Amino acid sequence: MSKPNSTDDASRTPNLGRRRFLQSAAAAATIGAAPHLHAEGQPMANPPSTPTPAQAAVPARPVHLTINGRAYALHLEPRVTLLDALREYVGLTGTKKGCDRGQCGACTVLVNGRRINSCLTLAVMHEGESVTTVEGLAAQENLSPLQRAFIEHDAFQCGYCTPGQLCSATALLDEFGSGAASAVTQDVRTRPPALTDDEIRERMSGNLCRCGAYPNIVAAVRVVHERG
Ligand code: FES
Ligand code: FES
Repeated sequence: MSKPNSTDDASRTPNLGRRRFLQSAAAAATIGAAPHLHAEGQPMANPPSTPTPAQAAVPARPVHLTINGRAYALHLEPRVTLLDALREYVGLTGTKKGCDRGQCGACTVLVNGRRINSCLTLAVMHEGESVTTVEGLAAQENLSPLQRAFIEHDAFQCGYCTPGQLCSATALLDEFGSGAASAVTQDVRTRPPALTDDEIRERMSGNLCRCGAYPNIVAAVRVVHERG
């Protein structure tokens, strides 16, 4: 014996016409898909709370930055990271957002000549400072030696990490030139004797490359260092 289905019920119920049956079914389906309608008119279990003073919007404030040699007067909320200030407010999208949490190095820029992850710092913390992004590495139409070496040595594939790699490598060469030791320097009390591939790898270890262009990146940095 077959089990009666709802359509059979409709056809067999004399007082329930086909149209009325379909209207009832549609209404039931709507309520099933929108459970909040059941609660209409009832007090909410967890009414939205009013924002605490800490959650309330903090007014924007002036921030002055020199970016790639050009002065910018910005008006930013204190919560805006330097990365977002560069990309969303200044329109310099060369600096990339990879992880937004200090893990990939795609957002590396130079601030007063030192490399930092721009996603980990707030723009307001750099009032009056000088920022260099990948757009500022070339002089006019002339690529920097590192930019040329990256091209010569195929040191990128998709290119997403490349702005950060270039800024990081630029600072690396300055750091090594000033005698800064790294975690693989044999004797940190003395100037590192040579910029070996191990030194380059260690000093570039904060910049990840999902395409795995590491050997070519190391080669590009090495050749620029050797050319002086
Ligand atoms: S986006 Fe800043 S470290 Fe990844
Ligand atoms: S070139 Fe693609 S992530 Fe580095």
